[in-house]
Amino acid sequence: MPGDKSISHRALILNAIADGEARLTGLSAGEDVGSTTACLRALGVHLQDDTVQGVGLHGLKPAPAALDCGNSGTTMRLLAGVLAGQPFESVLVGDASLSRRPMDRVLEPLRRMGAAASWPPLRVGGRTPLRGITYQLPVASAQVKSAVLLAGLYAEGETAVVEPAPTRDHTERLLAAMRTPDGRLRALDLELPGDPSAAAFWVVLGALHPDADLELPGVGVNASRTAYLSLAPAGRGDERWAGPEPVADLRTLPLADRRAWRWDPALSAQVIDELPVLAVAATQLEGTTRITGARELRVKESDRIAAMSAGLAAMGAALKELDDGWEIRGPRPLQGARVDSRGDHRVAMALAVAGLLAEGKTEVEGAECVSISYPGFWEEVERICR
Ligand code: S3P
Repeated sequence: MPGDKSISHRALILNAIADGEARLTGLSAGEDVGSTTACLRALGVHLQDDTVQGVGLHGLKPAPAALDCGNSGTTMRLLAGVLAGQPFESVLVGDASLSRRPMDRVLEPLRRMGAAASWPPLRVGGRTPLRGITYQLPVASAQVKSAVLLAGLYAEGETAVVEPAPTRDHTERLLAAMRTPDGRLRALDLELPGDPSAAAFWVVLGALHPDADLELPGVGVNASRTAYLSLAPAGRGDERWAGPEPVADLRTLPLADRRAWRWDPALSAQVIDELPVLAVAATQLEGTTRITGARELRVKESDRIAAMSAGLAAMGAALKELDDGWEIRGPRPLQGARVDSRGDHRVAMALAVAGLLAEGKTEVEGAECVSISYPGFWEEVERICR
């Protein structure tokens, strides 16, 4: 399994501003984490192979040019938090998709902390020290939560974040493992867990494909990431720890209960990255599944509600686009078709799973975008279809 993308960003950023050297094995090889690595190098951090040489909380240097976050919202938002607390200004830019995504949600709390911050392009930093705040998140977002907590490392007084619904807690776990009593960070060696959001594509395939029986070794099973396993269960063995994160070996299971899901809108924040592939699964359930509470999908790497509606409709699914999700009637056999990923890695992989469940040939346009989070995805598809 590819290394967890969310934890890879955080392990790199936190070790970059820690004291000491950290070995990070099994980092995500995806382009998003590559963007974080490149930005940290530009800020004067020495990174080689799997080793990060921490510069300490106050050791970052101004980058010689704008920091390119590529397609990665996590890179831009988390670095905005760290850079807000620096005595120099930084400029962060991204590709066309990232440039369209909402950044006010990060800038607003950073400004409240006293930071200089504007957008577009994203400019932060140069006004210190920050002051601690208690911030009530208006949307459930782990990226915004993390940005505020990271800025809190540079603030006077206490910084707290209150979430409307629980989101992934990797930043909190790493901070707890790395913080010293005097408020600095100690380098932490870590073996990255496999990415549960990448595993979700295989879990759904295994749940619905009559011939699929897949072993997924070393997957992160942090409860804030694995709510999707309550809908598409997998077997779990050899539970262990990778630093502060729980890991297990998963094995796919055929889905025993094929009735349509009764959806609690609060669940959507818990399965936000798995929703595209869960929508694929819903096309095979008996009855109507109304996935709601997922408006955030409209501001991901693409408008994932629209992208999955178009792709699944082209494959013969009976679904209606809602403002905040989909209404999906099943079961409907899927037909192979030419579908568009819209350059969005999770849409491409969800449509690939739909294609593996369908009769006939499916072509995914823009298929190469899987390299954002899962560079080996298509090789795995070939391997399991052989
Ligand atoms: C992420 C948080 C989520 C998620 C994204 C990764 C993170 O985004 O969709 O893929 O690593 O913190 P939001 O914070 O915008 O919900």
